[in-house]
Amino acid sequence: MSRLLVSSLLALLTLTACNGVVEDTRPGQPVKHRQDAFKAMLRSFEPMGVMLREKQYNADKFAPLAAELVARRDAPWTYFTADTLYPPTKAKAEVWSRADAFEGERQLFFTATDALLAAAGTGDLAQVQAAYDKVYDSCKSCHRDFKVK
Ligand code: HEC
Repeated sequence: MSRLLVSSLLALLTLTACNGVVEDTRPGQPVKHRQDAFKAMLRSFEPMGVMLREKQYNADKFAPLAAELVARRDAPWTYFTADTLYPPTKAKAEVWSRADAFEGERQLFFTATDALLAAAGTGDLAQVQAAYDKVYDSCKSCHRDFKVK
């Protein structure tokens, strides 16, 4: 293929990728706000996972991240209002049709993040690892039932 063809194909791909992004145009942008809130949680959660996987646990760096995650964990939920199952959401209809189970997962997540914060305060790697794993499982468990992949 010629260079020109390749570059125009690339340009086309980029264009379609941009057009594939659906904007939340509804008043108050509840889907956008909850997705942003989850992304903010991930920005606190991910560096803790990296630290543990790379065997670089540092209690003084870990504890503030755990506190930041706890500070951010309340943000997404109020945006799951009625009739907000529309693009670009990745939520499943089960969030609303199985509201009690969704709330149960949310409570487990709060319990797990409380335990992570407490473990982070001890500075004990074994406790921190176990508590981190439980939070991870809690994210996964809720996503399995309530979020499309
Ligand atoms: C009680 C259920 C629940 C828990 C717990 C939960 N999530 Fe989610 N998460 C969801 C749902 C539902 C969505 C889809 C939101 C939407 O698109 O409207 C989501 C979306 C996300 C997104 C995608 C945002 C986007 O725009 O693509 C990220 C990232 C995310 N969650 C990270 C996490 C992390 C990290 C944890 C744990 C620290 C976590 N979530 C815990 C239910 C949960």
